[in-house]
Amino acid sequence: MKAISIGLLGLGTVGSGVIKIIENHQDKLMHQVGCPIQVKKVLVKDVNKERDVEINPAILTDQVNEIINDPEIDVIIEVMGGVENTKDYMLQAIQNKKHIVTANKDLMAVHGGELLTAASENGCDLFYEASVAGGIPIIRSLVDGLSSDRINKLMGIVNGTTNYILTKMTEEGLAYEDVLKEAQALGFAEANPASDVDGLDAARKMVILATLGFSMKVDLDDVKTTGITMVTEEDLHYANRLGYTMKLLGIADRDGDKVEVSVQPTLLPKTHPLSSVQNEYNAVYVYGEAVGETMFYGPGAGSLPTATSIVSDLVAVVKNMRLGINGSYAVAPQFAKNLKDSEEIYSKYFLRIHAKDEVGVFAEITSVFTQHGVSFEKILQLPVKEKGLAEIVVVTHKASLKSFEEIFMQLRDLDAIKDIKSSYRVEGSANA
Ligand code: NAP
Ligand code: HSE
Repeated sequence: MKAISIGLLGLGTVGSGVIKIIENHQDKLMHQVGCPIQVKKVLVKDVNKERDVEINPAILTDQVNEIINDPEIDVIIEVMGGVENTKDYMLQAIQNKKHIVTANKDLMAVHGGELLTAASENGCDLFYEASVAGGIPIIRSLVDGLSSDRINKLMGIVNGTTNYILTKMTEEGLAYEDVLKEAQALGFAEANPASDVDGLDAARKMVILATLGFSMKVDLDDVKTTGITMVTEEDLHYANRLGYTMKLLGIADRDGDKVEVSVQPTLLPKTHPLSSVQNEYNAVYVYGEAVGETMFYGPGAGSLPTATSIVSDLVAVVKNMRLGINGSYAVAPQFAKNLKDSEEIYSKYFLRIHAKDEVGVFAEITSVFTQHGVSFEKILQLPVKEKGLAEIVVVTHKASLKSFEEIFMQLRDLDAIKDIKSSYRVEGSANA
């Protein structure tokens, strides 16, 4: 078989890793696919920029058409990022019968359905393992490994940057801004890190996971998303004191034929397996009706881990080329979208309140919860520096989202309450 020719779009953190793996693992790759793999052209913005990988300058270009219209290129590896223009390039490449491997969750979360359909109509593969949880083969695990089961729940720490920030704030008491800069320097953060810290990157990944896990097309707008920018040292302190760890958690839950998907800072018992996932590591917990609990763990971001998934996708494409079965892998969602209403979404909640330190105030607060049939699992009350105020921290028993939102609004309107400092979802019970 003649050499497989690759067009690489992007030579940043991930693109450099792809070059390194193709070069350093060439023997193993040749053994797997039975032919050499060569990178023919590489798209960059600035061809004169210094690179941290050795590359023949003659193969660099800033003209995307030189790659997607090159008849000799078999596979496009897209690691440049972007959504609308990138989608147009991918569609054009598919029209030109090129197989695609991408790490781009922004693109796949929004246009994945359209691109997968176009690819299969044109007999092309479109693989995107690296788009969720970097080096963890979670997409293949859902599509192949667990294809016989019905998935009821997916919980994921799927953003390396925010997990890195929360770990360093919790374990080393470092300031949010300093740790974010570190995560950027280490190449974990997105070009615009707001999409990491605001939860959007995790939401995009949860769209991909929920769509595959539940075989139901979930859209980005369906994911209730809150990031970590409001998480304070005090919140982390109380979480720890109550026996919890704070994680930015994606949760996709199915009851019968209805689903909910969210991303939010969540308190997990320190004993929960997801609590031990630290720094840029990711993990996805999958509960299947037949298999029970499974968990997939590994590096969720960074150059070589992400590139490993990409080059493994490339191997799958080339094996399909040999078998003549490209374009037949993706299965369209089986079910129409059916989302839970807010009265069908149940969880425990953490609330931190500053209230007047006066007789009867606690009873007033309690009565708001009682009106909605919600009771407390844990309560802490402490004086705060500001004179005459008390800090009240509660963890509730399970309540519907609808009840919790009503409680929140009623509390906010009480004269005795100066401020609701924070509120978080809680998964499971801590023993502290
Ligand atoms: P990056 O370091 O910013 O690299 C982007 C590369 O694409 C650069 O080489 C840049 O060229 C090139 N590029 C961007 N826009 C271009 C345009 N319009 N025309 C030509 N070239 C363009 O990004 P990255 O971290 O490698 O991420 C790449 C993709 O992988 C993104 O979709 C990201 O979400 C995804 N991803 C990243 C990670 C990670 O750990 N970083 C993990 C999983 C998935 P110049 O070098 O000339 O500027
Ligand atoms: N910015 C992303 C993260 C990169 O921190 O998880 C991996 O998708």
